[in-house]
Amino acid sequence: MSERIVPVPPAFEATAAIRRADYERDYAESLRDPEAYWSKVGRRLQWSKPYTRAKDTSFDPEDFHIRWFADGELNVAVNCLDRHLAERGDKVAIVWEADDPATAPRRITYRELHAMVCRLANALGQLGVVKGDRVTIYLPMIPEAAVAMLACARIGAIHSVVFGGFSADSIANRIADCTSKLVITADEGLRGGKTIPLKANVDEALGKPGTNSVETVLVVRHTGGGVPMQMPRDRWYDAVVEAQPATHEARPMNAEDPLFILYTSGSTGKPKGVLHTSGGYLAWAAYTHECVFDLKENDIFWCTADVGWVTGHSYVVYGPLANGATSVMFEGVPTYPDPGRFWEVCDRHQVTIFYTAPTAIRALMREGDAPVKRSRRDSIRLLGSVGEPINPEAWEWYNRVVGEERCPIVDTWWQTETGGILISPLPGAIATKPGSATLPFFGVQPALVDAEGHVLEGATEGNLVLRDSWPGQMRTVYGDHQRFIDTYFKTYPGMYFTGDGCRRDADGYYWITGRVDDVINVSGHRMGTAEVESALVAHPAVAEAAVVGAPHDIKGQGIYAYVTLKEGVEADDSLRKELIAHVRHEIGPIAAPDWLQWAPGLPKTRSGKIMRRILRKIAEAGPEGVDRGTLGDTSTLADPAVVDSLVRERQHR
Ligand code: PRX
Repeated sequence: MSERIVPVPPAFEATAAIRRADYERDYAESLRDPEAYWSKVGRRLQWSKPYTRAKDTSFDPEDFHIRWFADGELNVAVNCLDRHLAERGDKVAIVWEADDPATAPRRITYRELHAMVCRLANALGQLGVVKGDRVTIYLPMIPEAAVAMLACARIGAIHSVVFGGFSADSIANRIADCTSKLVITADEGLRGGKTIPLKANVDEALGKPGTNSVETVLVVRHTGGGVPMQMPRDRWYDAVVEAQPATHEARPMNAEDPLFILYTSGSTGKPKGVLHTSGGYLAWAAYTHECVFDLKENDIFWCTADVGWVTGHSYVVYGPLANGATSVMFEGVPTYPDPGRFWEVCDRHQVTIFYTAPTAIRALMREGDAPVKRSRRDSIRLLGSVGEPINPEAWEWYNRVVGEERCPIVDTWWQTETGGILISPLPGAIATKPGSATLPFFGVQPALVDAEGHVLEGATEGNLVLRDSWPGQMRTVYGDHQRFIDTYFKTYPGMYFTGDGCRRDADGYYWITGRVDDVINVSGHRMGTAEVESALVAHPAVAEAAVVGAPHDIKGQGIYAYVTLKEGVEADDSLRKELIAHVRHEIGPIAAPDWLQWAPGLPKTRSGKIMRRILRKIAEAGPEGVDRGTLGDTSTLADPAVVDSLVRERQHR
């Protein structure tokens, strides 16, 4: 691992709001007197009823509770829109860049966005959506996605955004879990020149069991592709909002009222509905966005994430808009129509802060420097990375070729559960090291523990935990509070367990090494091995399946599946393709196995437990083959001979 220290570029430091001494002083202060610290930070938002206490939290199993700003009242949409109208009404809130570069960009001012959100909020009210109702949003990356989220926030409805790449089954499961009353979708999406049949997927989803809570489907006309409308359930979005007034009186919400549910994969079972609330989440998204990106009034901020993921929630929509910033929203993909697209968009919109995922950086790096060099990129002053560990090679390329060694890189570690960034350099304050997320944000108390939960000191490696709450923390798993406790607080009582492994070096810098549970991070997206396994087993030819992560040059981790077929089923290439397509159809393209190996048997203990450690080692092995020594003791297996056949039949990566 590279330990090169990259100092803060002096020109950047000169204008940065937070320098090293500020960071040290404020970090110490945030731990010494959290109440005073967060009371002050919280006042950056506009409260219709001020809180009297900021922090009211305890991870102690006997007295477990997480409440922030709990007696305060605010409206999240008012904070993202109305509050800016007097001074920034004509400032551009959202710049929209279409999939096709020939389509004209849309520039929506705060005043216009406010009117769009008010119209939809009125429409939702008329359709019978009230505070606390759940609304599922299944939209492409178009401004209406942000409008839909904010309109829900405005009336206190809880939104559940489902990524446009998920299948009908995945939508149906998510609708059923939170019993959504209304779905907002579009006729079709567009990505990399391909159309995505969003409305058709919703139609298919609503034909599945458990989805009859849905009364209305609002359909945004986006591509204009013909879609069947089912009356009276389906309504055209345009027609519904057109008739509405452009003003709406927002209701104040309690700080702890739910803002949204976002489903994310865990190590077991089906995806969990991570629930975030209003006050703490917004304070965290806004404050981290301002500090980590050294936000200035004239910045053009571009986070390339889709709003279907938490990064899109916090750093395309809520953080930037709460800060009155200009946020770029991109419908397309990095390589369409060619691998210079990102940088052309940066030039076109004069992007000053650019935030993307290592998987995109690696994919573009592979295309060489020429597509980057075609652009000027002189507007960019800061680069960011999120979603998975960034390998030092990709970091160096990003720094040298994209940022021309002028721009600091913030490698930001966080999770759907954390609401916003927890470990990251502050770009004017912290010298970086390629591959390290560096130091904790204000108020964040990371620690490394061993398997027994002993806190380890100094330079060491262990499991990453957080010792105290922060305002952006998730509050519960929707509909299953026990699962929240069991997943995050049972492993190490009194601490939040992140599921990540981590190293801390002699300078106190954190190096996230990846998940230590059965979660795979594919292109910065979380996928549970259990989910892929159950999709495989649902196929009539499959008797049993086990799925592990394996290193992948572009995706970071790829999905490696071991499949045991039912008696008499013939294993061949066409069945392999069929099974991969089956998973793609059941969950979505991101879950499709990269490698699928036939396994006459799986390595099991005598009590029937699959030894994943062995499967991981076989999948991880490079071209030189499996080093039998790394497999550990296989003599306790019910049938040690299966290991030989698995090693022999290994798929070459
Ligand atoms: O393993 C860590 C990895 O992504 C996981 C969280 O995934 P998700 O909830 O989908 O949120 C992704 C966007 C915040 C973490 O448990 N991860 C995220 N950021 C980094 C990272 N690993 C290393 N370095 C990062 N900067």
